[in-house]
Amino acid sequence: MRLAGKTVVLCVTGGIAAYKAADLTSKLRQAGADVRVLMTESATQFIAPITFETLSGNRTVVDTFDRNFAWEVEHISLAKAADVFVIAPATANIIAKAAHGIADDMVSTTLLATRAPVVVAPAMNTGMYDNPVTQQNLDTLRARGFHIIEPAAGHLACGDTGRGKLPDTPTLLHGIERAVTKQDLQGLRVLVTAGPTQEALDPVRFLSNHSSGKMGYALAARAAMRGAQVTLVSGPTALQTPYGVTRVDITSARDMYDAVLSRADAQDIIVKAAAVGDYRPAQTADEKMKKSDDELTVALTRNPDILAELGRNKRPGQLLCGFAMETQNLIENAADKLRRKHCDMLVANSLRDKGAGFGTDTNAVTLLFADGSRETPPLCPKEDVADIIFDRLLALRAN
Ligand code: PMT
Repeated sequence: MRLAGKTVVLCVTGGIAAYKAADLTSKLRQAGADVRVLMTESATQFIAPITFETLSGNRTVVDTFDRNFAWEVEHISLAKAADVFVIAPATANIIAKAAHGIADDMVSTTLLATRAPVVVAPAMNTGMYDNPVTQQNLDTLRARGFHIIEPAAGHLACGDTGRGKLPDTPTLLHGIERAVTKQDLQGLRVLVTAGPTQEALDPVRFLSNHSSGKMGYALAARAAMRGAQVTLVSGPTALQTPYGVTRVDITSARDMYDAVLSRADAQDIIVKAAAVGDYRPAQTADEKMKKSDDELTVALTRNPDILAELGRNKRPGQLLCGFAMETQNLIENAADKLRRKHCDMLVANSLRDKGAGFGTDTNAVTLLFADGSRETPPLCPKEDVADIIFDRLLALRAN
């Protein structure tokens, strides 16, 4: 999460979902954000200001004419301090006021004064949400660049079933983070591969490797956060699909080959972070192989090289980024792969480097480019490595 050090002005308006804003406040603070909570009078009927004071560590502000604080024009100072302005839950009333410039309480006056990106998470009865006037007001806000987080559908407190629920905290956090993230991959289609492949020996055994999928999932998550339309072709992992990412699950290298090659033409950028099995058993037994006292020799056959195939068929304007995991001669081997597989960029990492490679939350990489240049960023979280990779790919695209 990239909200550390950001000032988040969180406006809580009067609906039953107001209690959920307490968890949001807590998670924002845990992410390192400075959370300033504003409430409408009606929100205080659902949850007490002291809850937010305790969770945020800051005074909760309710009334525009509250005099119990050091002198400053508070709605203006908060409006200026905000890196991002969040209204969650947003009632039909505050949405209508925002759409029409009405400023008659602390929330609406501060909102009118802010220049920060504004995130609105509507939550209300389905009839109110579906009402054309509410939809029109939301369209007005969208057209002005507000970030609207669509409500979830389900059972509502009023007994109705339909759209109108405040989404869960991870969804809200994602929407807030996205509002403060430059959308420089907007309009681009990015395909990322991640995780290991499994090559079956029989119905219960397989050959595989130690890839956890963390590097590929970090790439997919950051690309989606930066606005790309992301497809993640993933081997078996224990990881959750990042927000906004379309995930295609595969098991074997040949599954991955089919999943990637059938989608490749449509992509602007392909990043191959998966650890693909180079070999598979020549035969896969239909039944569980029985053990005996004899030694067992398994014949292996080559899997197709997906990256090499992509390199051979790269369409003009498409960017191809491979990875290389090595245990020796990292740069020489990586440079050889870059050339042979016709990549625009290759990310080399070594199992011998501390904090790099399989299963770690960090990676130490050297980026190799087709023009022969190289770059070695410091050891950093895989999300930061992912951002550096997309920064460099965007620079290559610009050239
Ligand atoms: O998943 P994590 O635990 O986070 O670990 C991350 C990682 C170490 C798996 C990742 O950073 C990484 O290095 N991925 C590539 C691992 C690898 O298989 O490297 P390679 O040198 O064997 O393959 C070179 C490139 O060819 C890779 O882009 C690979 O995806 C691709 N390849 C390889 C074989 C094959 N049959 N088809 C391929 O497309």
